Amino acid sequence: MQAALHQAQQRVEQQLQQHIQKLNLRHERLAQAMTYGVLNGGKRLRPFLLYATCAALGGTQEQADSAAVALEMVHSYSLVHDDLPAMDDDDLRRGKPTCHIAFDEATAILAGDGLLTGAFEVLATAPCQNDAQRLTLIRLLAGSAGGSGMVAGQSIDLSHVGQRMTLDELETMHRHKTGALIRAAVLMGAACAADGADEQTLSALTRYAEALGLAFQVWDDILDIEGDTSVLGKHQGADLALNKPTYPALLGMEGARRKAHDLVSDAVQALSEVNGDTGILQQLAHYVVTRDH
Ligand code: IPE
Ligand code: IPE
Ligand code: MG
Ligand code: MG
Ligand code: MG
Repeated sequence: MQAALHQAQQRVEQQLQQHIQKLNLRHERLAQAMTYGVLNGGKRLRPFLLYATCAALGGTQEQADSAAVALEMVHSYSLVHDDLPAMDDDDLRRGKPTCHIAFDEATAILAGDGLLTGAFEVLATAPCQNDAQRLTLIRLLAGSAGGSGMVAGQSIDLSHVGQRMTLDELETMHRHKTGALIRAAVLMGAACAADGADEQTLSALTRYAEALGLAFQVWDDILDIEGDTSVLGKHQGADLALNKPTYPALLGMEGARRKAHDLVSDAVQALSEVNGDTGILQQLAHYVVTRDH
């Protein structure tokens, strides 16, 4: 799987460069900040998941390129804004100063705005088979990124700093702030494959993605405690410093670890109902809860 991940990372980097050039950005400082925010060495896990789902259903990487770029642009915007002083107030991201430190706060806000809107321009002009497919991709990304998805999760997160949360509330927060874009990666990947997916496969892929997305954020919470800043590329202990509600805070380290592994078992179990070659998707699920960054 590592070879496939590396290949997808290289491909999406190249695709991001090409697509951003085509956006015709009219102000040099903004262009630099947008490029800084997105071409800065993320793991590219969402594009990889999108490519892998498309491939599992018989699609090609060419069919998935624009969707992978758009999704990573939205994810990267979410990180640029997540790090702002008004939000998590972080100064390290992907091993480098955060966008608002490297530039300034207003430029980082605008870079995020540019990445978010640019993502939809990429999808609206994607070389898809037809307009219906383009619309499906736009609908999936908008629905998962906005106020019914990631942005709602961020809002719940910020309004609970320093407060106790029930396990149900925490799960709802994680399913939105992180799970929504991970589900979009899978469903957009399926939408890119030429023949799409049958009902049973789509439903199984949705269950896979939902379990994987939650596991991903549970592990992110664990890494905040156990990770190493130089490997993580972001500060270890940032959640603790802000007194953020997290899985380890509610369940303890062992409980959080068990939860993450149980979710991965659920994800892998769901794959058994997918009509397609799901080997990479299975390996990816295990990677999510063994990764060190
Ligand atoms: C970090 O996501 C933010 C969360 C949703 C937990 P990633 O861990 O995928 O960050 P990058 O893209 O690799 O930097
Ligand atoms: C962020 O969650 C999720 C987003 C929507 C960006 P975190 O705040 O836990 O992400 P990190 O730990 O800063 O990467
Ligand atoms: Mg945050
Ligand atoms: Mg954060
Ligand atoms: Mg975190």
